[in-house]
Amino acid sequence: MKNILVKLGKRSYDITVCHDSMDKLGKLLKKLNIGTDAVIITNPTIKRLFGKIVEETLLSSGFKVRFETVPDSEKAKSEKYCLKLINNISRFDGTGRRIFIIALGGGVIGDLSGFVASIYKRGVPYVQVPTTLLAQVDSSIGGKVAIDLAVGKNLAGSFYQPRLVFSDVNTLKSLSRNDLTSGMAEVVKYGIIRSPKLFTFLEKNYSKILKGEKKALQSIIYTCCAIKAKVVEKDELDNKGLRVILNLGHTIGHAIETAAHYRKAYSHGQAVALGIIAASSIAEKIGMSDKDTGVRIKKLLRNIGLPVKMKGLKVKDIISAQARDKKFIHGKNRFVLPVKIGKVIIKEDIPMPVIKDSISALFS
Ligand code: GLY
Repeated sequence: MKNILVKLGKRSYDITVCHDSMDKLGKLLKKLNIGTDAVIITNPTIKRLFGKIVEETLLSSGFKVRFETVPDSEKAKSEKYCLKLINNISRFDGTGRRIFIIALGGGVIGDLSGFVASIYKRGVPYVQVPTTLLAQVDSSIGGKVAIDLAVGKNLAGSFYQPRLVFSDVNTLKSLSRNDLTSGMAEVVKYGIIRSPKLFTFLEKNYSKILKGEKKALQSIIYTCCAIKAKVVEKDELDNKGLRVILNLGHTIGHAIETAAHYRKAYSHGQAVALGIIAASSIAEKIGMSDKDTGVRIKKLLRNIGLPVKMKGLKVKDIISAQARDKKFIHGKNRFVLPVKIGKVIIKEDIPMPVIKDSISALFS
């Protein structure tokens, strides 16, 4: 069991990265003095897989337990389920209870549960128990929690840090190959933004990781969490321009997801992989990066099984989706660009023909 402390003063918390240790969760929570009554928010699939072990560890540490399930899809991150959860929790709550929330699942569950925790009674404690690679390396850490509105994703949200992030790599055994490779796009992102050592490790060990080897998985998850923790510590509220480096590949990636929305052609991770390739092509075209960096990035993503070419969409649809992105400040575009493995820069006002060329290159 390895711990990383996210240092945020009174809001500091541990990220625990472990394997085969779900049965230890109850004792860890007891030490946190987090409350008496756990509301576990999850979906039916995750409940079937891990509900029993989580319930048992909590009961044996003296907690009362209640499950709340939501659908296994992005639809759960909605006003409807948010209000339903708050109402159900309020009916369960009562004299002598000290409610806390456990988010047991992937990014959707984590974002929804954290948001519910942030608004129920103006805030109750919550814990992230992420069960996907994407959630373990990214969405469970950092305190940005939200639900989607009809107009767009994550539009109602807050900053609300968990009291603990507990990642057991054993939970990843249940992931489909697609979900695992999708999460790997974020792992590659961390290597590019901050760690040549992680990137080289991925180049050498990607097949072990994809086979689910626990030691390799634990090692990469630990490294990614340590990188994210440092970034979040320096820019908790995302107002110092530092967290933005975590968006590498997400500007064009989100535009691809939006343009492909109705056909669900690309998962988040697949779109991010294509976005990273486009960003490295922009960096090359404006002379900020050499060819070798782009070649290594593309080769690693391809080896992992992520897409490095695109089909079925139109360049113009991706460009117009990108122009509506909330990451664009005052109408200016802003990109995170790889300079070399382990170093990125933030560049505004990239000329449109360069962006277009880089997106078009994804089709060839
Ligand atoms: N919850 C994800 C983040 O704060 O970055």
